[in-house]
Amino acid sequence: MNQLTTIAIQGAMDCEISALLKEMGEYKEEKHGGFFYYIGEIGELPVVVSKTDIGFVTAAASTTLLIEKYQPSIIINQGTAGGHDPKLFVYDLIIGNEVININGFRTGILEQGQGSDPTTWVHLDSLFPDENGVHPAPEVLTSDPKLVEIVLATASTYTYGKVVEGTIGSAEVWNREMDRIHWLRDTFNTSAEEMEAYPAGKIAKLNNIPYLSFRIISNSEVIDDDTEDLETAGIYCAEFAVEVVKAIGRNL
Ligand code: 5AD
Repeated sequence: MNQLTTIAIQGAMDCEISALLKEMGEYKEEKHGGFFYYIGEIGELPVVVSKTDIGFVTAAASTTLLIEKYQPSIIINQGTAGGHDPKLFVYDLIIGNEVININGFRTGILEQGQGSDPTTWVHLDSLFPDENGVHPAPEVLTSDPKLVEIVLATASTYTYGKVVEGTIGSAEVWNREMDRIHWLRDTFNTSAEEMEAYPAGKIAKLNNIPYLSFRIISNSEVIDDDTEDLETAGIYCAEFAVEVVKAIGRNL
């Protein structure tokens, strides 16, 4: 992190990137493979804001193109999430020290009429035993520790909630079933769920690019609050991302 090279910041939806574009003021819009990229500066740092669209397929594909077209030195994936931890409230921010795929499973065998029991499903990473006959634990991606330090040092600028470290689970399911949410949290220690942090982080890892993920709680089934405000949460998170990028610039 000692070179002034492009920092990439991703968001899936317009509300998750609009505050970044506003901060950039002037920027160039480019489109590759159907995905939008916005090239400009934040705090004099060259940045590319990447709109991944929602879900695994688009997050992975747009991250691959992001790397090919702009060779970023850091990839930040940020945006909204649903809470799994009852201590997290709407607008709290969670740094994805760990990011895990909670999308891919093999089901058990049940006969017709026996229904479905997702709590018995086996994670795809654990399906096949290694050479010692041990079934591997699911892959855990980590945010770059130096970048996590910078986020923690920036946390005092965030006034809409607290900033904590935790585990982000990615799936293409918006889980609202309490038993399933509790099973996910018990099994994978998830603090929150969303749909892009794992695929983006996986592509970053395959390309040896330092990765950082943080998410804002926009809704939660595990607390006594019916708020579901992706718009406001998306803006708050992206505003915080602006502060993080500036802090990264000061730490180069
Ligand atoms: N579950 C899954 N995805 C969520 N998102 C916000 N809240 C949730 C939730 N509870 C985010 C996803 C995706 C979009 C639907 O909103 O990351 O981009």
